[in-house]
Amino acid sequence: MLQPLMTVKVTRKNIEAEDIAVFELADPTGGDLPPFSAGSHIDVEVRAGLVRQYSLCNNPSERSRYVIGVLKDPRSRGGSAGMHEIGEGQDLRISEPRNHFQLEHSAQRTLLFAGGIGVTPILCMAERLSALGADFEMHYCARSRARCAFHDRIRASTFAEKVHFHFDDQGQAHALDIDAVLGEPCLGTHVYVCGPTGYIDLVLRSAAAKGYADRQVHREYFSADPEAMFAEGGAFQIKISSTGQVFDIPADATVTDVLRDAGVDLPTSCAQGVCGTCITRVLDGVPEHRDFYLTNEEREKNDQFTPCCSRSKTPMLVIDV
Ligand code: FES
Repeated sequence: MLQPLMTVKVTRKNIEAEDIAVFELADPTGGDLPPFSAGSHIDVEVRAGLVRQYSLCNNPSERSRYVIGVLKDPRSRGGSAGMHEIGEGQDLRISEPRNHFQLEHSAQRTLLFAGGIGVTPILCMAERLSALGADFEMHYCARSRARCAFHDRIRASTFAEKVHFHFDDQGQAHALDIDAVLGEPCLGTHVYVCGPTGYIDLVLRSAAAKGYADRQVHREYFSADPEAMFAEGGAFQIKISSTGQVFDIPADATVTDVLRDAGVDLPTSCAQGVCGTCITRVLDGVPEHRDFYLTNEEREKNDQFTPCCSRSKTPMLVIDV
């Protein structure tokens, strides 16, 4: 579901690195686009019924274009492969930008970690922090130089000396020494990471071991772990607090699917637990969290969950709908 909806034109497409296409999107009438902040993403309707999220990676002060980078995933279920078939001049339906990965502007120091195509929101953050004259450092890990998008743009940027590249094929001497980069945690330091699940988990684990608090560490998963996502759970029931209606959620269906079939439409976007659009308050019962969006602290409170993928540990969940 694209909300709110707008149409843009692909004004430029180029192959930025191996398997990575970069698209520039503009208002077809030449007008300004809605503003966005560093870390924002848009929903893109790749084709009818298929919506994917892509982070904006241009400078957030720009109003004439949105820039997105898309990695062609060999396991693609249609999203990234479909995007790579889109060409210049084509119209695309997108949502306005939303931001679930915001910069903490009061930070005294910011550490940015990008893994592969996870560079897109991180690069946008680097642009913003540089414009603010903030103290930051960016580490960009990729399998090789050939698979490293935006290398030349970063090298030519005003913040080039703050960016450290780590390519897997360059050997141990160039590997990311995560513990050394994290250093000793100071209260004013904030950490941001985006990339493959294993990369994010490494940064999160290392930061936690160093003593960083949950609120200092921010992450954005760009796709869910399919095994965790599609694993069946037990059946349970959902009760809608406003009407008292009770719905059976079978082991092989999601809450959002069952409710949609019954005419109760919850807002969704990614449908895979990474964007936070569907977050719903839980009034009673204990959710089984399967998302990649909530922080550990938020999960432990058990007062909200993502009905697009999460389930229930108790026979019934009462939700605030
Ligand atoms: S729709 Fe994205 S987390 Fe549920």
